[in-house]
Amino acid sequence: MKKAIVTGASGGIGKEVAKRLAAEGYLLTLVARNEEKLGSLQDSLGRNCHQILPLDLTNQEDIIYLSEHLAENKYDLLVNNAGTGTYGKFIEIPLEDQLETMTLNMEALVTLSYAFLKHAKSGDALINIGSLLAHSSLPGGAVYAATKSFVANFSESLWYEFKNKGIFVAGFNPGAADSDFHSNAGSQTSAFPKFVVSSVQQVATELINALNARSKPRIVQGFKNRLMLFGFRFLNRKAAVNIMGKISPGMTHS
Ligand SMILES: NC(=O)c1ccc[n+]([C@@H]2O[C@H](COP(=O)([O-])OP(=O)(O)OC[C@H]3O[C@@H](n4cnc5c(N)ncnc54)[C@H](OP(=O)(O)O)[C@@H]3O)[C@@H](O)[C@H]2O)c1
Repeated sequence: MKKAIVTGASGGIGKEVAKRLAAEGYLLTLVARNEEKLGSLQDSLGRNCHQILPLDLTNQEDIIYLSEHLAENKYDLLVNNAGTGTYGKFIEIPLEDQLETMTLNMEALVTLSYAFLKHAKSGDALINIGSLLAHSSLPGGAVYAATKSFVANFSESLWYEFKNKGIFVAGFNPGAADSDFHSNAGSQTSAFPKFVVSSVQQVATELINALNARSKPRIVQGFKNRLMLFGFRFLNRKAAVNIMGKISPGMTHS
């Protein structure tokens, strides 16, 4: 039985991805802070959930614990999904919150990627969850968008480094999805036009398809998101950032 580890599996995209991986026959290890939510997902997955690891991946000891766990236990797949952001103007968000976002979205992701890839074998896969915002800046979410550019760029380089070893690395970039992400970040999914919002089920389906296809280093989720991104190619950077600033939920904050 193949083994997978999913971070941020207690809700939203990660929970849905965990369910799909269980349906694909993976034996799962689920990571997030909320033990109760992880426990109830574990119960619903039955024999496909091997263990839960309640950890805070902004905490150095927990990051080290999980990277040691990855070094000592062979997994076939790591999905680095845990991620947070905060909407608001840069100097109106406490600096420590933004540094915490950087720790979770980048430092933990790099540390876990390193531990996993050190022991990876042909056939294994690493999926790092970025965002559509990997491809643009976001006034009112400057640090979050920058962390996601990092994830996409980092993953693309690793795709190349590992492709001839038969190890698939990819950055998977969802557009707006109907998880708790936006309320946790200080906005609401309703801040986005309905037609651009995907369900977490749609996002998970596309992630599983990308994992099975093992082709692209950078995957943009959703046809409408790919279309939007294509349109943005015809804008210069100034025009693009002006549009992002106008539509950003983080710029409406006082
Ligand atoms: N929703 C969107 O519109 C959207 C769009 C593009 C990209 N994404 C990306 O997709 C990924 C999943 O987000 P989501 O939409 O599913 O958001 P979500 O519903 O808020 O889920 C985030 C997950 O990460 C976990 N998490 C948060 N802080 C953590 C920490 N310090 N340590 C360990 N786990 C932590 C949460 O669990 P606990 O609270 O239990 O720790 C939860 O399981 C993120 O990387 C996000 O940036 C989301």
